[in-house]
Amino acid sequence: MSLPVTADCDEVRQQVSDWKRSGERVAFVPTMGNLHEGHLQLVRAARKSAGRVLVSIFVNPLQFDNADDLSAYPRTLKQDADALAALHVDLLYTPSAQSIYPQGLEQHTRVTVPRLGDILCGAHREGHFAGVSTIVCKLFNQVQPHTAVFGEKDFQQLALIRKMVTDLAMPIKIIGVPTMREADGLAMSSRNLYLSDSERQQATKLYQVLQKVRSALLNDDQDYDGLQKTAIASLQNAAIYPEYVEILRQSDLHKARPQQDSKLVIVVAAKVGKARLIDNLQVNLNESPSP
Ligand code: PAF
Repeated sequence: MSLPVTADCDEVRQQVSDWKRSGERVAFVPTMGNLHEGHLQLVRAARKSAGRVLVSIFVNPLQFDNADDLSAYPRTLKQDADALAALHVDLLYTPSAQSIYPQGLEQHTRVTVPRLGDILCGAHREGHFAGVSTIVCKLFNQVQPHTAVFGEKDFQQLALIRKMVTDLAMPIKIIGVPTMREADGLAMSSRNLYLSDSERQQATKLYQVLQKVRSALLNDDQDYDGLQKTAIASLQNAAIYPEYVEILRQSDLHKARPQQDSKLVIVVAAKVGKARLIDNLQVNLNESPSP
């Protein structure tokens, strides 16, 4: 199995325009590499939406608020390329930082999404979402796909990208893919690699807490502030340091209002040891409570 790989934007453009000229649809999966089963699910979803699948791997310096975090980010290009070849990806794009930010980070134009870029993770990681929206906008302009696929695990990122695409009238359909979980419920993430064995055990608490809040909501508990406080306390009791636990509306990530909003999402971000983990669980209050 051979996987065409290029770091050259002109080659990407040429290939995509050839595909389009012959009537093919193109799906794009932007990643930062270190691919796990969650990413591979995105690639499979991309394949369902289009005949051609293009994946990018670029560890985007603009979205890191900490130089150590950027340099420690796992880079596993060989394994990633093998995994993508096995899924018959049509093209892997691996631009260099120099080609993306030729005049350096400071001089590069920023794309910012108001409010959605500033709340939750945006409030805890300065400049993070401006980095995400800027790189995704640039990659979209380089690749010009019909569809682009992102994981629901990064629920805020997905909402931000949907808003950017709508606001800037980009002709790209955004597809969200449900979170892949380990057998014990921990959401798959490249950052799980930073967990020691005991922290890995502790981290399962995140999903347990989300499930508890979800089942309370489905059982008509309307004390949202109380539920958030209880969730935070139970994470702290498990030696997990939450940045936030919030019950929000799925559509715009505003605070959910009891008796008014029915499509909710519980979002959490927390530190487990050195790792900063995020997770979320969607709740539809029109569903009956699961046993
Ligand atoms: O989710 C990610 O891996 C990154 O934030 C993304 C969307 C590839 C932008 O760098």
